[in-house]
Amino acid sequence: MDLSLPTHRTAVVTGAGSPRGLGRAIARRYAREGWAVVVADLDTSAADSTAALIAEESEALVLAHQVDVTSVDSVEALRTAVVASELPPVGAVATVAGIADPTPFLEVTPELWERVFAVNSTGTFLTVRAFVPDMIEHGYGRVVTMSSVSAQQGGGVFSKTPYSAAKAAVLGFTRSIARELAPHGITCNAVSPGAADTDIRAGATDAEREAALSASIPLGRQATPEDIAALFVFLSSEDAAYITGTTQNINGGSYIA
Ligand SMILES: NC(=O)c1ccc[n+]([C@@H]2O[C@H](COP(=O)([O-])OP(=O)(O)OC[C@H]3O[C@@H](n4cnc5c(N)ncnc54)[C@H](O)[C@@H]3O)[C@@H](O)[C@H]2O)c1
Repeated sequence: MDLSLPTHRTAVVTGAGSPRGLGRAIARRYAREGWAVVVADLDTSAADSTAALIAEESEALVLAHQVDVTSVDSVEALRTAVVASELPPVGAVATVAGIADPTPFLEVTPELWERVFAVNSTGTFLTVRAFVPDMIEHGYGRVVTMSSVSAQQGGGVFSKTPYSAAKAAVLGFTRSIARELAPHGITCNAVSPGAADTDIRAGATDAEREAALSASIPLGRQATPEDIAALFVFLSSEDAAYITGTTQNINGGSYIA
């Protein structure tokens, strides 16, 4: 295996279990473009089924692993399993695991605040922290984090304050590590989607509300998981070597800045 090619490396994707989710589409896209893939998710059976799908549709080496990104021990166990596996060295980390929350500010409890930050912000930190030393050691590194337009425009899609604040923390985190890791040749960028057509709002929305959301977007539709996946994999490529510290807006024109 020629390790001078980034695509002969491993991409670690958290939150890659959800059947209609962004993480699964991202993991499948990495595999399609020649990466080995780690499919990590809180939901073991969902992670297993993403990995089975990838094994069915590509030649990629794939490892499914249960992880709770809020737990230091669980993320370290993920790293240990990846390093011990037959997969090539890690070359990209995509922190996709996240939870939404539409609670109005006046009803937000400290517990809810902590939970939303634990998954979206601390989970991003712990995952990146676990894999960056390996990327430095092996000489190729791409960190791609998941923010949201909610961080930039103050909610306005579905989730409210704790989510907007936690996703804004991801932007500050990504910009800061971009600066610190640049001397090691590692790029770090945040992807900031507008509404995407997944199950993240399932049970808390309805067809009418979703249609109104789509109609409010200048391009007239929500993002598909494939739209988002293409951006993650591009930001992980050699061609993206000079892009770092950016926030990549991908929102159909719903937020133009
Ligand atoms: N769908 C959207 O409209 C949208 C827009 C902007 C940003 N995002 C972000 O994109 C990411 C993926 O969203 P999605 O729409 O695919 O959601 P989803 O709910 O379909 O998938 C989220 C995945 O994260 C996993 N997860 C949750 N908590 C976890 C934990 N503690 N440890 C490990 N895995 C955990 C879930 O099991 C699930 O598989 C999230 O970070 C979300 O905030 C989504």
